[in-house]
Amino acid sequence: MSGAAAHPIGDLDLIDLTDPHTFQRDDLPDMWRAFRDRSPVHWHPARGDAPGFWALSRYPDVLAVYRDADRFWSEGGTVLATLLAGGDSAAGKMLAVTDGVRHREIKAVLQRSFSARVVARINERIRARTRRLVAEVLDAGEVDFVPRVAEQLPMATIGDLLDLPAADLPMLLRCNKLALSSDTGTTSPLESVAARNEILLYFADLVAARRRNPGDDVVSALATARINGSPLREDEVVYNCYSLIIGGDESSRVAATGTVLALARHHDQWRALLDGSASVATATEEALRWTTPAMHFGRRATADVEIAGVRVRAGDIVTLWNTSANFDETEFADPGSFRLGRRPNRHLALGHGPHFCLGAFLGRAELSGLLDCLRDLVGGIEVTGAPRRIYSNFLFGHSSLPVVFRPRRSAR
Ligand code: HEM
Repeated sequence: MSGAAAHPIGDLDLIDLTDPHTFQRDDLPDMWRAFRDRSPVHWHPARGDAPGFWALSRYPDVLAVYRDADRFWSEGGTVLATLLAGGDSAAGKMLAVTDGVRHREIKAVLQRSFSARVVARINERIRARTRRLVAEVLDAGEVDFVPRVAEQLPMATIGDLLDLPAADLPMLLRCNKLALSSDTGTTSPLESVAARNEILLYFADLVAARRRNPGDDVVSALATARINGSPLREDEVVYNCYSLIIGGDESSRVAATGTVLALARHHDQWRALLDGSASVATATEEALRWTTPAMHFGRRATADVEIAGVRVRAGDIVTLWNTSANFDETEFADPGSFRLGRRPNRHLALGHGPHFCLGAFLGRAELSGLLDCLRDLVGGIEVTGAPRRIYSNFLFGHSSLPVVFRPRRSAR
């Protein structure tokens, strides 16, 4: 143990992992190193109305809980907001908060609906759209990368998958931002609930329309699917559409922004991408590890379990801090270095085990499309102002990134 002297972080019991302010700190890597060293299975004390919970920060412990879906359930919620509130109203209906047989059945329906044809069409569109958006900001002087590029890509992609009218995307983007994260830190819980309801109502109408008139899209696939001869219930279809629009937008958006910021700050890695000494495939995985957009997920223990010698009781809340595990020195060599050629890279940015990210192929396609396009068209990236952090205890990233993109002299 390197102990408190190595980390001037102070008393870990005083750090509030439920408070979005905590994730505005500049010493987060030191804070997480202190948790891994001093209290890897940390009991986070109750505060106010919020109950206490476990916070796991080491890679092997986080991995073990992700794998063990029998003893660590998702139906009691999977993020601090719902775990601490006592549950998720979509439990047993929405994939991420459903366990056991029903989880496998719904996941199979969704995976089938991502047919090879649908995926090929979407990949092609991701590449074309990324090129168009990046070409538009080349030589445009200072632009904010977030609204000009990062916000456009995932919403349009998920819009393709669900076949949503382009005119509806700005409203859905606004609701997504309010529902999960906040650009300003001033979103009230009531505003978040209202935004979630607006998305659910939107999909309730759309699902009814697609049931009557199905097309070649994921909403239609869900609306017309049968499991053991029975259709999915309407609330199951609506909640899963909701989960796709939220899951498909937020994480990819902040991963793209964080990747551009990292490339601008690490000139050697930017050069490695340009001269081909790092492949887009390994760069995509390192970008996911480095940005780790979903800082935590969580579970409820269904039985008494020992984790790294600490007794966790049935019913306890156990949170898994991807943002720490992905920088654990016991799993990653020199984890604080951004290395586009990193191999192996068994990061947990997309989770692990039965609840492994359903949209992993899309998240990866969006990031590799961006890296490919930057390598081909852009010669230099300059950050021209202070990036603004998202205000959340769940999502890590930036809501604003002023940049100048300079064209590559010999565009490929
Ligand atoms: C699950 C991260 C993109 C939809 C997950 C989980 C993580 C994650 C960590 C595991 C949750 C858990 O174990 O409780 C990310 C990141 C992404 C991304 C970092 C982008 C860079 C997407 C996209 C979609 C999506 C594009 C939509 C198409 C989902 C769904 C689940 C999930 C529905 C639940 C899967 C299940 O419970 O079986 N994601 N995701 N994600 N993700 Fe993603």
